[in-house]
Amino acid sequence: MHPESLTVEVLPTPEAVAEALARRTETLLRSALAKSAIASLCLTGGSTPKPAYQRLRSADLDWSRVHVFWTDERLVPPDDEASNVSMARNALLNAIPEAHIHAPQGDLSPEQAADAYETGLQQVFGEPPPSFDVLHLGMGEDGHTASLFPGGPELEVTDRWVTSSVAPSGSSERQRVSLTLPALNAARHVLVAAHGEAKRPAFLRVMDAYDANASGSSRPPISNVSPDGPVIWLVDRMLAQGALKE
Ligand code: 6PG
Repeated sequence: MHPESLTVEVLPTPEAVAEALARRTETLLRSALAKSAIASLCLTGGSTPKPAYQRLRSADLDWSRVHVFWTDERLVPPDDEASNVSMARNALLNAIPEAHIHAPQGDLSPEQAADAYETGLQQVFGEPPPSFDVLHLGMGEDGHTASLFPGGPELEVTDRWVTSSVAPSGSSERQRVSLTLPALNAARHVLVAAHGEAKRPAFLRVMDAYDANASGSSRPPISNVSPDGPVIWLVDRMLAQGALKE
């Protein structure tokens, strides 16, 4: 399964990856706002996006017309430093009206958090899956994205937009809530930001999976994100070295 439109942009450093993620997001949101009253931005978690979100804060955008969502959340109290929502609030969200911040609730049980977040998405998007104007994704060293992990039952969920999941043992904050593949694949534009040598093997497996159209179970989870719209990978040289055919 190969995204309809796949771009891999190789940047010189992790800082350049953050800058590219911020600038591309700004451009895509501005374009969305030129065509519609509101735009939807789905943020992701982990450490990679944080410098991009700090840069995005200074974007010349009418943030009052942007609705913000998350790909996933760890089930921790909202003020916990491991919270993806807390990270984004501290880095970016002071410019966004509270009514436009649609955050998963980390202080609920997995099932309650998944149901509550799904209900919130349905209130904004109605029946069809949530077609985020811009969807951010990261990738773990095992090829996971959002909180969809290799071999996890969450990868098979097709009748919901949000599901609970459990990160592999050894992961931080194992109880998660995550968008499912149908929700991720409804996005209009997907920006994937990843850097560092440690993720190179996973990136290689993703590129192979794109090329080989390998079956679902053997594919790194992120390679199943194959929306109709463009998928743009923003990676640094350390990650991409040797992984791209010249
Ligand atoms: C999370 C993220 C997750 C993240 C990857 C990469 O909640 O952890 O949504 O999918 O994107 O784990 O994390 P880093 O950016 O910290 O490497």
